[in-house]
Amino acid sequence: MRVLVTGGCGFIGSHVVRALLAEGHTVTNLDALTYAANPANLATVASHAHYRFVHGDICDVPLVRDLVAEADTVLNFAAETHVDRSLLDPGVFVRTDVEGVVTLLEAVRTTRDVMLVHMSTDEVFGSLPAGMEAAEEAPFAPTSPYSASKAAAELQIRAYAETYHLPVTVMRSCNVYGPNQHIEKFIPLFITRALAGAPLPLYGDGLQEREWIYVDDLVAAVRVVLAGLPRAPGVHAIHIGTGERLPNRAVAETICRLAGGNESLIQRVGDRPGHDRRYALDSGRLRARGWTPAVAIKEGLALTVRWYAENAAAWEPAQGAEFREYFQRQYGERLGAG
Ligand code: DAU
Repeated sequence: MRVLVTGGCGFIGSHVVRALLAEGHTVTNLDALTYAANPANLATVASHAHYRFVHGDICDVPLVRDLVAEADTVLNFAAETHVDRSLLDPGVFVRTDVEGVVTLLEAVRTTRDVMLVHMSTDEVFGSLPAGMEAAEEAPFAPTSPYSASKAAAELQIRAYAETYHLPVTVMRSCNVYGPNQHIEKFIPLFITRALAGAPLPLYGDGLQEREWIYVDDLVAAVRVVLAGLPRAPGVHAIHIGTGERLPNRAVAETICRLAGGNESLIQRVGDRPGHDRRYALDSGRLRARGWTPAVAIKEGLALTVRWYAENAAAWEPAQGAEFREYFQRQYGERLGAG
């Protein structure tokens, strides 16, 4: 395959780029190198004969049109992804997550013979009551500016697929974790702070439930999806979930134990506004295609804690001025008040 990966310098994108190259595919990586990107994630493949990096924005219409025209498959991982940042600055989420997707759709519409595969999220369904799982056709009920932008992108995809008879595959994943994830996210934030003996800001009562997937299992799922892309016009949604659902407090306690910290590091702080209580995906469709997760959360957390402990040089640069300013805005008062 000749794959255009967008957002390939990010957490998920970089793991997928390496896997695609290892499988013999040709990869062009279009990445805007925002704060969340880390080109070092791809240092080992930077000079690979079948890899090309293009520094650019998915909202850049002529650039995207040219790159899409060279590809047979487009994998969209470019996005603003952090819910807390979407509460501080929603506009950039609308631009990248919605306008960016429309730019891709326009390019795909004019190119035609290219398969678009888009990464979405379980958050488009909003919070689910205990015992319920969202199937692929469940109604959207997003609650944060982030999840609303992802749902809006999906509606644009639906409109394009319907209007222009495009085949588009939409993957909706649960929470991903593992090596190279940006330190703003819950698991790496708590790991890096636990390693430093710093307080861990647990939002609200910490009983919110998330479904977790180790990044290698996510990559395996993406490979299964790519191996059987439906070519019929329409939206082909598929859920990537493990069924491993845990309250945040339990994850935080495990991290403390694994990082050699004390559970007293966990500090209850003011809740995230509009915080969804529970996500849960029905991933039967993917499992019917032969995929099952290989890494249980206990093992995945141990691997992840070890990686952050042994690879400080990979994530310490992310603790620069931009992050310190964000951290102060996001947690300064909360931790001070806590
Ligand atoms: O569910 C899939 C989604 O998972 C993705 O679509 C998003 O891009 C990704 O950011 C993630 O969203 P979450 O909001 O679930 O992830 P986050 O790591 O921000 O938070 C996980 C949980 O931990 C959530 O219930 C909020 C809580 N939390 C998070 C942070 C950063 C805390 O209690 N304290 C924190 O400091």
